Amino acid sequence: MTTTPDGVGADVAVHAAERGGAGGDLLFVNAAQVVTCAGPARARSGAEMRDAGVHEGWCVAVRGDTIAAVGPQPEIERAVAGATRVDCRGCIVTPGLVDSHTHAVFGAPRAGEHEMRAAGVGYMEIARRGGGIHASVRDARERSEDELFALARARLARLASYGSTTVEVKSGYGLTVESELKLLRVVQRLAEEGSGPRLVATWLGAHEVPEEYRGSAASRASYVKVLTAEMLPAVVQQQLATFADVFCEPGVFSTDESRTILRAARAAGLRLKLHADELEPAGGAELAAQLGATSADHLAAISDSGIRALAQSRTVATLLPGTMLFLGRTRHAPARALIEAGVPVALATDFNPGTSPTVNFPLILTLGVSQLHLSAAEVLIAATVNGAAALDLADRVGQLTPGFSADLAVFEGHDYRELPYWYGDRRCKGTWVRGKACHPSDLPVL
Ligand code: NIG
Ligand code: FE
Repeated sequence: MTTTPDGVGADVAVHAAERGGAGGDLLFVNAAQVVTCAGPARARSGAEMRDAGVHEGWCVAVRGDTIAAVGPQPEIERAVAGATRVDCRGCIVTPGLVDSHTHAVFGAPRAGEHEMRAAGVGYMEIARRGGGIHASVRDARERSEDELFALARARLARLASYGSTTVEVKSGYGLTVESELKLLRVVQRLAEEGSGPRLVATWLGAHEVPEEYRGSAASRASYVKVLTAEMLPAVVQQQLATFADVFCEPGVFSTDESRTILRAARAAGLRLKLHADELEPAGGAELAAQLGATSADHLAAISDSGIRALAQSRTVATLLPGTMLFLGRTRHAPARALIEAGVPVALATDFNPGTSPTVNFPLILTLGVSQLHLSAAEVLIAATVNGAAALDLADRVGQLTPGFSADLAVFEGHDYRELPYWYGDRRCKGTWVRGKACHPSDLPVL
């Protein structure tokens, strides 16, 4: 057993030993409720978010890596013979959760900064003093790829243990060509290993202007040049990322710099995401809409014109209320106004060492209800179908519908509203990705 900064070695050893067994035909039976999230294979908006498809007396049949049938249990049981029956008594079956925004490849935690903020030093001030993202960058540059791989693997197992079956992972703690490629190779190796959640890689070389380029406007500009002329071509050539992202925020990358970087990324064949209007409104949402980004993320400080711009676009608004909670901020993204304007809303953890060190996606659903004023059905759609849409995966992930990938999560409870209700608890009893057990299941097999 290897010890990690999170002390998760033992947990992971169990995961590795128990994995790989399943993969045949499965029948998830006796669930108190099956929540299908079935419907159009695209981002849901407005009233569509209010229907999560909650059914009692239903079961789910899986054939290989695909959902084969979903419906009333006696009917499905008659049609499917010889499958392994997973007993979901006292549980709710849902699509596996889709966590569409994380920074899961990093080294050490940054617990000291948490305390500094409590004492009144702000997030951006900590960064100006060389902490924040800079601290994680110094740390990640020094670590070997294998070390980062072991840490990320353990952390992804923890994400899966709370119900996540798809996880987007960004680079962004390297900020040199070599170290960004190292972080993305970690994601690629984890995806190839295939034992944890489904992974989607995002290049975030524009997470911060590295310390060695902060001296002058000219040196800042030369980092943007490194990003577009050196780092981006290498990432694309080695096929290490699907998306490009930029931290667009006053004091980090300006709207103009973000536009330059994202246009180059789009021209090179990457799809786009944007850290937009997280702490101050700076036209990030408008830029994401204008560039046709797949998602605009954070948005706690979005302006009215930003909401209008998203409403006229196909961009998903990915809200990260765990970040605001952990930073001790009281302002949350205007989720209701976004939904009322017709913008599809997704939720995600933003799992990272600075602003959201949580692997507990259901806790984010709690915040979705308690802080963002969404209903239980809305947070479930936000964490499944709309999370999938924020990764351009809505045609195969995020629903319990025949033909979709067999990605499921089983949670203890009798009513789907208990998922956001038991806040902070780990109610997840098992997850399956492409029909294979991912988080070891405590459920009896009949
Ligand atoms: O999404 N905002 C920028 N990036 C992360 C924080 C990263 C860090 O502090 O290490 C976020 O909040
Ligand atoms: Fe983030």
